[in-house]
Parts: sequence; structure tokens; C-alpha cells
Amino acid sequence: MDGIRLSADLVIKNAKLYAFGRIIEAGLAVENGRIVRVAKESNLPRASEKIDVNGLLVLPGIIDAHVHLRDQELSYKEDFYSGTCAAANGGITLVMDMPNNKPVTMSVSALRERMSIASRKIVVNVALYSAFPERINEIKNIVSEGAKAFKVFLSHRVGGIDPNDNWAMREAFREAARLKVPVAIHAEDGVLLNETIRRLRDAGKDDFDAYIEAHSIEAEVRGIRRAIGLTRDSGAQTHICHVSTSEGLKTILDARREGVPITCEVTPHHILLSEEHMKKMGAISLTNPPLRPPSDITYLQSALQKGLIDVVASDHAPHSMEEKEGPSVWDISAGIVGLETTLPLMLTMVNMGFITLPALVKVMVENPARIFGFKNRGSIDEGNHADLVVIDLKREWTIDPSKFYSKAKFSPFEGWRVRGKPVKTIVGGNMVMDEGEIVAKPGSGRIIR
Ligand code: DOR
Ligand code: ZN
Ligand code: ZN
Repeated sequence: MDGIRLSADLVIKNAKLYAFGRIIEAGLAVENGRIVRVAKESNLPRASEKIDVNGLLVLPGIIDAHVHLRDQELSYKEDFYSGTCAAANGGITLVMDMPNNKPVTMSVSALRERMSIASRKIVVNVALYSAFPERINEIKNIVSEGAKAFKVFLSHRVGGIDPNDNWAMREAFREAARLKVPVAIHAEDGVLLNETIRRLRDAGKDDFDAYIEAHSIEAEVRGIRRAIGLTRDSGAQTHICHVSTSEGLKTILDARREGVPITCEVTPHHILLSEEHMKKMGAISLTNPPLRPPSDITYLQSALQKGLIDVVASDHAPHSMEEKEGPSVWDISAGIVGLETTLPLMLTMVNMGFITLPALVKVMVENPARIFGFKNRGSIDEGNHADLVVIDLKREWTIDPSKFYSKAKFSPFEGWRVRGKPVKTIVGGNMVMDEGEIVAKPGSGRIIR
């Protein structure tokens, strides 16, 4: 930046930095929360605070584009403090919060209320999704208030628009396109899904097989086709959340080849766990869309290796233990807790040679920053916010949900041996997590509008 800077607030030295598309042995200087210099030790300014990371890897902070932070009337599942502590513990510096809250994030006032509660509790940065409101002309006000993106559930109504109301959906997507705001989509076709659930329930079927039959591959593929139709019609930039099937992914990739502005996401659980796991482990691995047959998993994995997947996100969806138990499968709350396992699992895949480190940074940092329009974030570069994660790539450890900061202390990955651990999380130049300890005050994170 400037050639004569003599002092800074913070210097991180002795690092292997992932910058400019490669790993460099260097350090960096931070002033007022921004990276002001990336350079060799001897060319760094003096600083009041110095962190020697002893040759560890430093990546730009992870951006998790799919998180249910809950709070408000769902605070018993998770709140802004516990959820962002979990994020920090997982090396994540920015989370995108989903709108299926109580009350639903779907208006200027709901957004304001949520931001105001969050701003007092968060320890990492948070951007908020909104659901569509009932009135189309409210959409622009929600955007002005600072919603970063919209989220649509095709499976059931969340927000002001019935997902089966084609006209209203089209109008909403067109308005999002006009405002250049992305729309993320949970693509399970609601008509097929809910008809099947009704039929199965009436027939007294209430086990995991019935659940898989309802949340079928066909339901996902139909949902994705519908999402593509809405994207084509409106020109909106859309993002398909948690793709779980090979057919679904193929459909997206075909559309993209034809120039449809659509991106896609996978979760660690959909690429590492199969429906056999679910039948064995039960409710803890029950999620929507559900875990799939091994052939789908292989397909998603190879797509990730080929660079065809844009984003890996956690879909962190915490529930209370009671909600995970139920007399029938239809009474169990779906969702897998992922903030504290997503990066370690991905680092393990890097260590196994399954994906490269640049590929990890692309799907967990660079692409989310680009898709959702986070300016001056997503890479270690002069002028960018100092959102960083220090990683011990060699450290082997065992996933132990009882140690989670999340209120939901269970995980289908319990007992998994992983290799690679985030050991420091730095947000805007402030240390938030250090060796598993949260060292920042509630409210130190920022709302990103
Ligand atoms: O399993 C899920 N849980 N899928 C969703 O789409 C919602 C999420 C939640 O909010 O619990
Ligand atoms: Zn979803
Ligand atoms: Zn979700």
C-alpha cells in the first residue's frame, strides 16, 4: 500500500500465508482492522502487538454461506453468541444467517430487530438473509436495510410468499434481479414432497425409509428444475443450497453451460455420509435434503474435485436434543450441526490429497465472497479486512461434540479422527479464538450489510 509505513496495530509473523493464489513464507501487518502490508519479515512495520505463528498456515477467514444462527424465540436451539463462538472455533470469520427464524426474517422491522440483537452478541461477522415478504415492493426496503441475499424454501412456506404461487415467485425473483441481490434456494419440490409425506403418514409409515421415500431424489430434481426456470425467467443470480444428488447437480451444470446464472453448494455431510449412515445413526444425521446413496456421494465428491462445485457450506442447523427424539420420524427436527466440523473435515480431505488447498480456499472463501458480494473480503491482500484463520495442518484430533460451543452438542461426525485444526481465528484484526478459547467480547463481531 504505502511504502513508508513505520508502525501498525498488529503484525503476524513467521507464517505460511495463502496469498496471491499460493503459499508464501511471509507476514502481514494490520491497522484499523485492515491488512496494510503482506511482506517478508524484514519489510514489516513495527507493531504494538505481535503474533508469531511459528510457521503455521494462515488462510483468509472462512465464509460460511449457510448457517441457522436462530436466537430470539429459538434461542434454546442456538443464539447469536453460542453460534458465532462455534463459528470462531471452526475458523469461520463470516457467517450468513438464514431467515427461517421465529419471527421469520421477512420485513424491515424483523431485520432491524435481528440485527440489533445480533450486534450485542456476535463474536464473528454476520450477514443476514431475508425471506421474501408478502408485498413485492417491500423487497427493495429489505435490501436497503442490509439483507445480503434472499432465501427461498421450495419445500414449504417460509415468509410472505407461498412457494407454489408461480406468479408471486416470478415477481419476487424479478425484483431480486432488478436489485442485483442473490437468491439462495432450498430446492425440494413442495408439492411432490408434501403429497408423499401425507400418503406415507396415512399408510402408517414413519421410519427412516419412509423419510427417504418422501424426500426423494425426484423431489430435489424437480425443485432444481423449478429454480432454473425461475432463474431463466427473471435473470436473477441464484444459488442452489446443499445439492445432494447426482441428477440434481447434472441439471444445474447443464443449465450453467447454457449460460444460466446459477451457482451451487454442497455440505460436508452430503459428500461424506450416506443414507446407510443415517439408518445406523438415526436422528442426529436426519437432515433435509437427507443423506443419499453412495453413488450420489461419489458423484458429488468427484464434481468437487473437478472444481464444478462453487461453495462448501455447513448448513449448521442446531436443534435441542428433545427435538431430535420423537415417536415417529415425522416428529424429528431435521438438521445437522456443522460450524465446528466443516473446516476440519475439509482440511482432512486436503491432507488425504483428495482436494488441494487452493480448491478449499476457492469453495470456502473466494467463491462465497464473490457470489454474495462481500467487498474487501475473501483473500489475504493489502486493503482487505484482516479476517484470518491460523491452521495447524498437521494436528490430529478427534471430533468431540461435548466440546462444541454450539448449544447442540451432537454430530454424526462424533469420534471421527481428523487432521488439520483451526488454532486461531482473527476477525478485523482482533483475536477471537485462540487454541479453542474464545477471547473476544460478545458484540465484537460486525453486521455486514
Ligand atoms: O435439515 C434442515 N434443517 N433443512 C432445512 O432446510 C432447514 C434446517 C433447519 O432450519 O433446521
Ligand atoms: Zn435447506
Ligand atoms: Zn439450511
